[in-house]
Amino acid sequence: MKAGFYQFNPEFGKKDKNLEIVLKILTESTFDFLVLPEFFATGYQFLTRDEVSELSEPIPDGKTTIALSDLSRKKSCYIVAGLPERDGNLFYNSAILTGPEGYIGTYRKTHLFYEEKLFFQPGDTGFKVWDTSIGCIGIMICFDWFFPEAMRTLALKGAEIIAHPANLVLPYCPQSMPVRCLENRVFAVTSNRIGIENRKPEQELKYIGQSQITGYDGQILFRAPEDEEVFSIIEIDPAKARDKQLNKYNDLFKDRRPEMYNLY
Ligand code: ACM
Repeated sequence: MKAGFYQFNPEFGKKDKNLEIVLKILTESTFDFLVLPEFFATGYQFLTRDEVSELSEPIPDGKTTIALSDLSRKKSCYIVAGLPERDGNLFYNSAILTGPEGYIGTYRKTHLFYEEKLFFQPGDTGFKVWDTSIGCIGIMICFDWFFPEAMRTLALKGAEIIAHPANLVLPYCPQSMPVRCLENRVFAVTSNRIGIENRKPEQELKYIGQSQITGYDGQILFRAPEDEEVFSIIEIDPAKARDKQLNKYNDLFKDRRPEMYNLY
């Protein structure tokens, strides 16, 4: 199946414009599975709760979810996209999954990064997977990658391909994903953004680009440059992620010994 990402430079607060850019390029392209960055239509560096309130949306009734659901339906494809979610007077850093049937589900980011903690609630959905016609899809958002339990939980639940919307600023993720994927034998599509946000002059955020498609065997199948807009689609076979057997004697999941791991 054809899987990929769109790495670009969203302009803060210009939700309609960013969404329009994304809808145009997705409409003109052919793919089965596409991952967009974290907060892809709003920008990331919020300064106040009022800004979050203004740019966030309810799911599934908000404009962004409706637009991507419609597109998924029309093109019979799956899309994962990050957006600030409003639920009553609470806000979540969320990602939606849409597909041929329209809106499918939401994941709320578990591990909030830095000043996200000022505005957003820690996610309460847990790590979720969805069995679809193209394979079992799991979602984690940006900083979640830093916690090996995130991808492990998704993989143990059956995920074959991990959608990873991101706004990465630290340098470590691209070279770490091969290990995450290898130890879980899953594919991952990390969709990061590019550009700089300096809405707080003393706290410029430079996004590292390098969106990446990583194979179940730890191979980097495609990595985008640090600072270029890239729309990339490659062919992958998620079924390869079902077999956890390393050799005649070792199965990555059957060999686990949870009783030896004092994780709490
Ligand atoms: C991040 O979680 N946006 C770094």
